[in-house]
Amino acid sequence: MEKYKIYLGPYTKEVSSQLKLGKIRIFDTTLREGEQTPGVAFRLEEKLTIAQRLDELGVNTIEAGFPSSSEGELHSVKSVARLGLKAEICGLARTVKEDVDACLKADLSCIHTFIGTSPWHLKYKLGISEEEAIKRAVETVEYIKDHGCTCEFSCEDATRTPFDFLVKIYKSVEEAGADRINVPDTVGVMNPEAMKSLISRLREQLKIVISVHCHNDLGLATANSLAAAVAGANQIQVTVNGLGERAGHASLEQVVVGLEVLYGGSTNIKKELITEVSRLVEKYSLIYNPPNYPIVGRNAFAHRSGIHVHGVIEEPACYEPFDPSVVGQTRRIVFGKHTGKHGVKTFLEQLGMKVSEEQLTKIVMKIRELGEAKKTLMDEDVFAIAESVIGGIPDREKAITLKELIVVTGSNVTPTASVTIEAGGKELRAAAIGVGPVDASAKAIEKAIGAIGQYTLDEYKIEAITGGTDSLASVEISIKDKFSNRFRAKAVDDDIVIASVGALIDAINKAMFYEKLKSLKQQS
Ligand code: KIV
Repeated sequence: MEKYKIYLGPYTKEVSSQLKLGKIRIFDTTLREGEQTPGVAFRLEEKLTIAQRLDELGVNTIEAGFPSSSEGELHSVKSVARLGLKAEICGLARTVKEDVDACLKADLSCIHTFIGTSPWHLKYKLGISEEEAIKRAVETVEYIKDHGCTCEFSCEDATRTPFDFLVKIYKSVEEAGADRINVPDTVGVMNPEAMKSLISRLREQLKIVISVHCHNDLGLATANSLAAAVAGANQIQVTVNGLGERAGHASLEQVVVGLEVLYGGSTNIKKELITEVSRLVEKYSLIYNPPNYPIVGRNAFAHRSGIHVHGVIEEPACYEPFDPSVVGQTRRIVFGKHTGKHGVKTFLEQLGMKVSEEQLTKIVMKIRELGEAKKTLMDEDVFAIAESVIGGIPDREKAITLKELIVVTGSNVTPTASVTIEAGGKELRAAAIGVGPVDASAKAIEKAIGAIGQYTLDEYKIEAITGGTDSLASVEISIKDKFSNRFRAKAVDDDIVIASVGALIDAINKAMFYEKLKSLKQQS
């Protein structure tokens, strides 16, 4: 029986069952290649947290950085090495003694050394012959092995290096004791067929572990990495969210899911942690995946049109390749101009809200109208629409009620408010000062209900409805919960403070009601 709900068709199943891929090592270079992304610089604590999460995720190797590049880098790589993680911790080094020494100073157990080998790199970057490149590579591998470290060797720009020379240099380092060779497609010019051909030809010549490192210049990094695995590569280098130089690098998420789901291979990765790690790296790198990014994007399991929503509610396999939980994602029904009744009804029923056919039509019309105006409607917006069509939250569901409000204000007086709020049969009292009477009242309410509700004020709008000093004040408030769900409420009174407090209490009640319905849904 399949452990996960994966919905493949007969063609992929048939081909992947014939491939018989073994276990593939995952070498993560988010902290080295990923940090080469323009604009990305991880702080030390961020590097440590990422390394810990990668270790929990199950990567085999963490390339923690390039120690010879600066004292700070050496310090952070060493700090990662000292975390005592299960994963092998590796550092990058050119084929020069100082670079290897910096890796040794960083207490690394693995050193990844490289030299450019394509005609362009040899002539313009290094100004050396092929023989000199082999000599430097061999000497460096021997030096690394003499220090008892695991050694991975890369021919930079391998995929534009003549085959005979490539085999010669890889064979030389294999004989010198290297543990793995890596084949970088440095400028992303391979296609899956070329990659398959190159890796199978190398496989015939070498016994050593073969790795690939594919850049995404033409959008084929994942396809090329998977093709390499099919042709006999034993390790794939990856970065979280595909970070890396220029258009980036093969992403951990796509490579692992591709290998396991589509190619029948296996890795050590705990796939259910993939989305969480991706979000963490987004936060620290400040590079956010587009919503339609595969696997971890916010829309990767979001369904919008009425036809799709209907299908996915009846049977998720209709519109999903696998259950979102496989990668720690959640399914989302998105509401907008294509929304159908079926999806809205199911969504509301899941929240425990029963609506009549007439109310449902009104709710759907309102959603479509807002959708036409290009509004993105989140769950809580649909809840708010439904709640207004139904006629507000039933009184018995109101979590808090204002019992008393006393406000003292005036010139040369610090505005002070004291409130009594009834919540769950108990009376909560609090007093607070503020910059004005409304602020003091809001703070007193926040203080009183602090233990049961944690919301932040998002918007506050006040409007005089009629003309004079006795005009009615209309106050509109929006608050946010910790998930950034927004709840709006409006109140009208001839006293600005009473209108403000009324709207605030109403918004808090909506947020609490929504939270309660959500938690009931999760328990059921
Ligand atoms: O892109 C590349 O070629 C590299 C090597 C150092 C592996 O990053």
